[in-house]
Amino acid sequence: MDKRPIGVFDSGLGGLTCVNCMLDELPDEKLIYFGDTARTPYGSKAESTVKNFSAQISDFLVGRGVKMIVIACNTVSSICAADLQERFPEIPIVGIIEPAARKVAHSCSSENRVGVIGTKVTINSGIYGRKIREIRDDISVFEMATPAFVPLIEEGFAQSDIMDLTIQYYLDDFILENRIDTLVLGCTHYPLIRDSITRLYPNLRIINPSEEIVSDVNSILSEKEMFAEKKESENIFYASDLSENFVNMINAICAGSRSKIEFKNLDIDTK
Ligand code: DGL
Repeated sequence: MDKRPIGVFDSGLGGLTCVNCMLDELPDEKLIYFGDTARTPYGSKAESTVKNFSAQISDFLVGRGVKMIVIACNTVSSICAADLQERFPEIPIVGIIEPAARKVAHSCSSENRVGVIGTKVTINSGIYGRKIREIRDDISVFEMATPAFVPLIEEGFAQSDIMDLTIQYYLDDFILENRIDTLVLGCTHYPLIRDSITRLYPNLRIINPSEEIVSDVNSILSEKEMFAEKKESENIFYASDLSENFVNMINAICAGSRSKIEFKNLDIDTK
């Protein structure tokens, strides 16, 4: 048993889609979330910048005594997971790409044509195609960056006409030309527009990595006998900029569970 909290982070509110699943499946775990809302989006920034930001956030979470770090961000997982594991060899670092790639490999056949959408950093890394092919090399994978989604979601336009147009702008040709039948939401913000994607493309099968990461968290806690016996204190959500949208989303997903929201600017003070 281990009552220390689990640290979870993302560039902004996208990682809350993972938290939502963790609250359901791991109700006794205390979570400390960091959303870097002041510096989002990460997905269009230089790799060195993303690496610096994620090291800084991980230092902050480790300073808060976490027993594990969950990278609730495809962008960070795609280029920083190994560096972070090296930085903190004693703390399990859980990324989101492997569990999602396993889901694709185990639930698709060679008949399927899989599209992966994500940020520029994630897509340029080619990690989804690589990880899926490591398990199975007979699945056709097509990857495309869709960078306009994150700023619109962070600004509160997840359900809007502008978002519908943006979804169609990116996906109409991508789906048609590549005959995509399965779409991986390769950014933790994208589950927030899942309903709109499904409404616009009702025949598309969706794979949501934010749901898949929880099984890896669960397995590691079980393997290392690190489950918390029962939740002793509230979840804490830090944001580097307390946007209204971030606060509203936490209130929505945490309805019924104890939680506290705090402003934290890592550039000013990491203590
Ligand atoms: N939610 C993140 C991801 O999964 C980051 C998006 C961004 O900041 O660009 O990639």
